[in-house]
Amino acid sequence: MYVHLNCIVVDSGDDNREEMVGFLTEHGATVVAAIPSIERLVPLLRVDEPPQLVMVNLDPNAHDMLRALGPLIRQFQSINFFVMSEQAVDVQLVMEAMHYGVKEFIPLPADSEKLLAGIERISHAAGSEKRAKIIQMIPTIGGCGATSIACNVAASFARNHKTVLLDLDLVRGAVATSFDLSPRYTIADVMSSGDTLDRHLVDNALAVHAPSGLFVLSRPEVPEDSLRISRVGFNRLLNVLSRQFDYIILDSLMSVDSLYMAAIQQSDVNVLVLQLSVPSVRNAERFIGALRRMGIDRHNLKIVINRYEKRGADISPEDVSKTLGVEVSWMIPNDFRSAIDAINFGQPVVLRSPRAEVSSSYGKLVQMLNGRH
Ligand SMILES: Nc1ncnc2c1ncn2[C@@H]1O[C@H](COP(=O)(O)OP(=O)(O)O)[C@@H](O)[C@H]1O
Ligand SMILES: [Mg+2]
Repeated sequence: MYVHLNCIVVDSGDDNREEMVGFLTEHGATVVAAIPSIERLVPLLRVDEPPQLVMVNLDPNAHDMLRALGPLIRQFQSINFFVMSEQAVDVQLVMEAMHYGVKEFIPLPADSEKLLAGIERISHAAGSEKRAKIIQMIPTIGGCGATSIACNVAASFARNHKTVLLDLDLVRGAVATSFDLSPRYTIADVMSSGDTLDRHLVDNALAVHAPSGLFVLSRPEVPEDSLRISRVGFNRLLNVLSRQFDYIILDSLMSVDSLYMAAIQQSDVNVLVLQLSVPSVRNAERFIGALRRMGIDRHNLKIVINRYEKRGADISPEDVSKTLGVEVSWMIPNDFRSAIDAINFGQPVVLRSPRAEVSSSYGKLVQMLNGRH
C-alpha cells in the first residue's frame, strides 16, 4: 500500500519518533515534522496546507498530555489526530480521547497492520478529495511566450512539489525540447488504451527532467497521432494525474475545440498570456467573449503580460484590463538574452539563469498562481 498523506509525528522518545517516521515514510506518507512535544505544534497546523494526520504518543504522562492536546483536536477539526499509549487498558483515558475527537486510539506496542489500516482510511478520505492544482497557459498570439511561462512555472513548482507539465500544443509543441528531453512515449500513447488508462501506463509515459525533478508528458512524435487524443481520454488522464501530482501545468493553445474546452473547465487557473500589442489584446477579447457565450465561467481566468517593456508598447496594461474587463495579474519583463540562452542550453531560464530579473519575475508569478501574494 502507498498512501498520499502529509503527517506530523509527536513523540518524546527519540527512538520511537524515528521509528514512526520510518514506518510512515516507507509507506509513502510525507512526514512534514517530527517533534518531541506539542509545544511547537500549533504553528505547524496553522498553515495554508495543514497536514492530514498528526500522530501523538501520549506517554509517559498520558492523561496530562491528552488534556493539553484536547483543545487542539477541537480547534483543528479538519485534521485527523491519532493518539498512542501503552495505557490502552485505561478506559477513562480512551473515553476522554474519543470525546476530544481523536480518530484512532492506538495501543502500544503498535500492531502495524492495524495502524496501517487506520492510516489507509485517512489517506483514502483525503485522497478522494485531494486533487492536483491544474494551471493552464493559453497564448493569445504565436510567440507571445505561453510555452516559456509554462516551462518556467513548472520547473519552479517542481522544486518543492510533485509537478507534471503536459504539452497540449499537439503538433508544434516544444516542451520536451525546452528541457532537452527525447521521451519514448507521448500523450498519444496513453490514449490508445481506451478504457484501461491506468496509473502504470501513465507512469511509463512520463519523462523525468532530472535536474529539476519535473515530470513531462510531451506532444506526439508524429503530428497525425494527435488525432488519437480525445476529450474522454484527456479527462481520464487528468484524473489519473490529479491523484499523483500536486501541480499539473498545461502548455496549451487558444482553441474552442472540445479538448481545449475540457482543459479550461478542469483547470483551477487559466492564464491568458498577452503581449502589449493590438492583435494579442484583440484575440484575448474575442476568446473571452467566446467563453462567455459558451457558458464557461471565467472567474479563474488570469491575465499575464509577457515581454513587458516600460517604453514602446502599442497599448498600456491599464488599457488591457479596461478592454478585457479583467485585471492584469502579472507582467514578465522582456529579456532577450536569457531567452536565447535558455533555448541554446535546453534549460528554462529559472534553471539556467536563476539570478536574472526575469527569473525572479517568474518566481513571483509562481507565488501568485499558488494563491500566496
Ligand atoms: N520574457 C521574454 N523575453 C524575451 N523573449 C521571450 C520571453 N518569453 C518568451 N520569449 C521568447 O519568445 C519566443 C516565443 O516563446 P514561446 O514561449 O514559444 O511562445 P508561445 O508558446 O506563446 O508560442 C521564444 O523564442 C522565447 O524564447
Ligand atoms: Mg507554445
